[in-house]
Amino acid sequence: MERRTIEPSAIEPLLESALARRVELRARLATEGTDCFRVLHGLTEGRPGLSIDLYGRLALVQTFRDPLRDGELERIEAFVKAHLRRDAVLAWNHRADWPREPFERWHVPHAEALEEHVATELGVRYGIRARHRGQDPWLFLDLRAGRRVVAELAPGRSVLNLFAYTGSAGICAAAHGAREVWNVDFARSSLDVARRHAERNAIPAGVVRDVHEDVLPVLRQLAGLPVKGRGAARPFVRLEPRQFDVIVLDPPAWSKGPFGAVDVENDYPSLFKPALLSCASGGRVIATNHVARVSAEAWRATLTRTAEKCGRPLTALAVLGPDADFPADTPALKIAIARVG
Ligand SMILES: C[S@@+](CC[C@H](N)C(=O)[O-])C[C@H]1O[C@@H](n2cnc3c(N)ncnc32)[C@H](O)[C@@H]1O
Repeated sequence: MERRTIEPSAIEPLLESALARRVELRARLATEGTDCFRVLHGLTEGRPGLSIDLYGRLALVQTFRDPLRDGELERIEAFVKAHLRRDAVLAWNHRADWPREPFERWHVPHAEALEEHVATELGVRYGIRARHRGQDPWLFLDLRAGRRVVAELAPGRSVLNLFAYTGSAGICAAAHGAREVWNVDFARSSLDVARRHAERNAIPAGVVRDVHEDVLPVLRQLAGLPVKGRGAARPFVRLEPRQFDVIVLDPPAWSKGPFGAVDVENDYPSLFKPALLSCASGGRVIATNHVARVSAEAWRATLTRTAEKCGRPLTALAVLGPDADFPADTPALKIAIARVG
């Protein structure tokens, strides 16, 4: 793939405007003990297909369509060092052709960028590697607004973290004093990263449980519902019905497995109903929807209707978007904070 040469000065004005937009947010993040944020959200800040995230001293540049232009990585590096962190190290991952074109093909200015770095969010420390087995960063920064709510609710509570990935919400809860956290995901390697996050934050042994299983049978068993699909005929993790004080439900837009499909656009109730049934009275379900085509209003109506139909009406429902480092008129990511009656 060719790196195209066009006007090399275009990136700095975008970065300057982006920083101007983040003045208030950065002040807030500093008081919250957070040193990671999205520096440029190219989709809405003048360069669709480019994002730049700062994780502590690691600046992770990601391109999703066209690769960077000649000289641009060096210009981004100079800007980040001058305006954000003098000790920054940059890594660039071009995702358009991954995994056919592994990230290793692309230049990284400093080998140090490929070591494990530490990013701190809400006082919680997360190990971050720019390059690992997958393509997504180990900490999704747009979910910070949801983790902030998790941190507030956590002290003394039991927390069920569904579709946990590297456990960011569960580890956040545990570090903020949750008495018990379950991280549920079918990817062992992601749960292993979550475990290392727990160690890094000195979470007492026994607080965080890894549940290495498909979310669908886990959630249906906790809710006291029968397990469905051809997966029901094979061995799976057996659980008794029980309720949690806080449930984090952060599904991918779509996935399919032996226990059925996750389809956020067309069938959110099949996830939300068992989550409500597994939530203690007065507890919270923190649910997300990443599908841009689903409006906040339509999704809110689906959540309310599902809760009424299953006999667990909501006593409060707020829908948040991400923080100001993901600017958008109508953000794709919607985060519902539902209080269950
Ligand atoms: C968008 S990520 C979730 C991000 C995560 N909540 C966080 O805080 O970073 C989606 C995760 O869901 C997992 N996943 C997808 N379908 C699943 C299923 N049916 N059961 C269990 N895990 C699933 C994937 O392995 C992946 O880790």
